[in-house]
Order: sequence, then structure tokens, then C-alpha cells
Amino acid sequence: MNVEPVSTYRVALLPGDGIGPEVCEEARRLLEFATQLESSFTIEFESFPWNADHYLETGSTIPADGLATLAHFDAIYLGAVGDSRVPDHIALRQLIFAIRQGFDQYVNLRPVKLLRGVDTPLADRGPNDVNMIFVRENSEGEYVGIGELLNADTPDEVAMQTSVFSRKGVERVQRYAFELARSNGTSLTSVSKGNALNYTGVLWDRIFDEIRVEYPDVESTSLLVDAAALHMVLHPERFGVVVASNLFGDILTDLGAALAGGLGFAASANLCPDRRFPSMFEPVHGSAPDIAGQRKANPCAALWAAGMLLGQIIAPAWETAVVDAIETVLVDRRVRTPDQGGVATTSQMTDAVLEALRAPSVDTPFSMNE
Ligand code: NAI
Ligand code: MG
Repeated sequence: MNVEPVSTYRVALLPGDGIGPEVCEEARRLLEFATQLESSFTIEFESFPWNADHYLETGSTIPADGLATLAHFDAIYLGAVGDSRVPDHIALRQLIFAIRQGFDQYVNLRPVKLLRGVDTPLADRGPNDVNMIFVRENSEGEYVGIGELLNADTPDEVAMQTSVFSRKGVERVQRYAFELARSNGTSLTSVSKGNALNYTGVLWDRIFDEIRVEYPDVESTSLLVDAAALHMVLHPERFGVVVASNLFGDILTDLGAALAGGLGFAASANLCPDRRFPSMFEPVHGSAPDIAGQRKANPCAALWAAGMLLGQIIAPAWETAVVDAIETVLVDRRVRTPDQGGVATTSQMTDAVLEALRAPSVDTPFSMNE
């Protein structure tokens, strides 16, 4: 008998705080469901309670050997962290930045795609106009955490924050973006601020100009970050792939999330492209303490991020299938979470998405692990 071997993948879950555990559970359900739809793989989950409580008990969000533990997994799934009892800059830096930088996840992929059935605040715009993907530099730039506070707690306090832009770091993320634009057949926009940031911005732009020569088939442009913000609102259709530094990518993707219907639809993948370390998948949103515990969180961003995880470890068609399933539910309009004007709970929304994934409205290529 010819029986296909079953691959087993190990996924580490970091539920975090607030709505983090709520949406992480929905992502886990989707991943589990995927293994039922396709028998060629299984997923083993292990959950780690590294959150604000852990910080208050131990003095750290993540144990000293945390990264060494995570290194053995095929992928990491993060809910969200953030709790008023722990300073944000400590919680985020100890966990999220430590993983992104420690595992060299230098590409932060963030789709900004208006799904059918979702309203955008832009008048007379639809899914064809808002369909871009951000490649945010994720390992250095403005978020390296280097700086100094002089004369602390005196009237002469001075804070200094250093940005680090290395040629290697800039070049690799820009190349990734060029390759993505080439394979997607879209344009590439580089975002920087070379007129004001006379060291980092200038180097970023210079490297972009060098690399674009190698990609004559990719339509590429550079924009200043302030102009990019303007054009995202006025001319969103001009953007395909967008590459930006850590800080600019962070800010512009929240603007993008607003254009695409809110944080409930913003998914994110922190990729270590050469796969030396596991990649990490997460919704862009935070722990949303204002709605935590009320079963109101929109799970779509978290489900999409789970789709990105499957897309990376199994096959890209999985992400498409998950996004199609989410769209099917949204177009139908019967099941929606409160942020979308509905009354469905977080898990009811997931139930509907899983049902749509089981019975795809479009031809979904099961088996998708070709
Ligand atoms: P947030 O993303 O948690 O919430 C902003 C607003 O969007 C809130 O009104 C919230 O209710 C709403 N919202 C967010 N996700 C939603 C969802 N899935 N469904 C429906 N509504 C949703 O950002 P905020 O309030 O600035 O930060 C809260 C905490 O989260 C802070 O401690 C912050 O540092 C942390 N944070 C953590 C992140 C992460 O873990 N990756 C990212 C951003 C913030
Ligand atoms: Mg952000």
C-alpha cells in the first residue's frame, strides 16, 4: 500500500496578555483544523506562559533559556503582549524584540489588503485599490534599543536613541522586497527620509538605487515617508510591495490597517528567510485591554497570521485559502464581530471561517502541499 508519510511540525504558542490568549486560541483551532483537512501533516503545539504574570512572578517576561527553547520549533505563534502592570517598553523588548532580533527575523511581512465585505474609510475605494504588502526591516534600524539618558530626573535630562542601518541589513531586506515584487509582478516602493536623516536615510536610498539596477523588470520608486503617508490615503492603488525601515514600516502599517478595515484585519509574519531559526507569526494588534475578556476581539488578523504560518511551513496556497475563507464570511455579512458592526463572538467568527475553509467558495487546491 502506498501511504504518504505524515510530516509533523512543532509550533510554539505564546498567547501573551489581554486578547492575546483569546485570538491565539482561535489561531490554534485553525491550524488544528487544517491538519484535519489535509492528512499529510500534523502539528504539535506547546504553549508558553510568557506574559505580564510571568514578569511579575520572575522579573522577566521570558526565561533566560527562552530563545534556546523556542529554537527547536518549526514556527512560533504570538498572540499579543501588553499589560498596564508592566512597562510596555520592558514587556515588548524582552519578548517580541528579543525573538525578532535573536532569531534574525529580518523581514516583517505585513499585508495591507482590503478584503471584500469590509468597509474602508476611504470614499469610493474598494479591494482593487487597497492591495499592498509591506516588507518592514525587522532586525535593526530605529528599534535596536541603543541610546542613553543623560542627567536623568533633572531639568537637564537628555535622551538619545541611536538608529543602526548596516549595509548588510539594508541590502538583504531590500533584495527580499525586490524578489517579492518580481514574483508578485507588482511595483516596489522604497520609503525613507533621506532629506532629513542625513546618515541612515541617505545610506538606505543609496543602496536602493544600487540594487534597482539589477531589477530592470521591477517598476521601483522611492518616496519620503511623509509623502508615502499622503499617497497611501490619496492614491493607495499605486502601491504594490513597499519596503521600509523598522519605525516607518511600523507606523505606515497601522495607517494601512486603518485603510483595510482596522486592526482586526492586520496580520504579520516575522521571517527568518534562510530558516536558520523559526519564524514568528502574529496579528499586528496589541493586547486590547479595553475589550479583553469580553469575547469581542475580531480573530481575522490572528487567523490570517495562522494562514501565513501554514503558507510558510506547508505551502503558500494555504494562506490564500484562509484569506478566501475569511472573505467568504465577510461578504456573507451574517457573522461579524462588534468592530465590524456585528454581534458575533470571537469564536463564532472563527467557526464561520473554518466552515468556509471546509467548503471553499472558490476552487481551493486541496491537497495544497504540492
Ligand atoms: P491595541 O492594538 O491593543 O488596541 C488598539 C485599539 O484597537 C483598541 O481600541 C482595541 O480594542 C482595538 N483592537 C485591537 N485589536 C482588535 C481586535 N482583534 N478586534 C477588535 N478590536 C481590536 O493597541 P494599544 O491599545 O495601543 O495597546 C494595548 C497594549 O498592547 C499595550 O500594552 C501595547 O504596548 C501592546 N501592544 C502589543 C503589541 C504586540 O504584542 N505585538 C502590538 C501593539 C501594542
Ligand atoms: Mg505597531
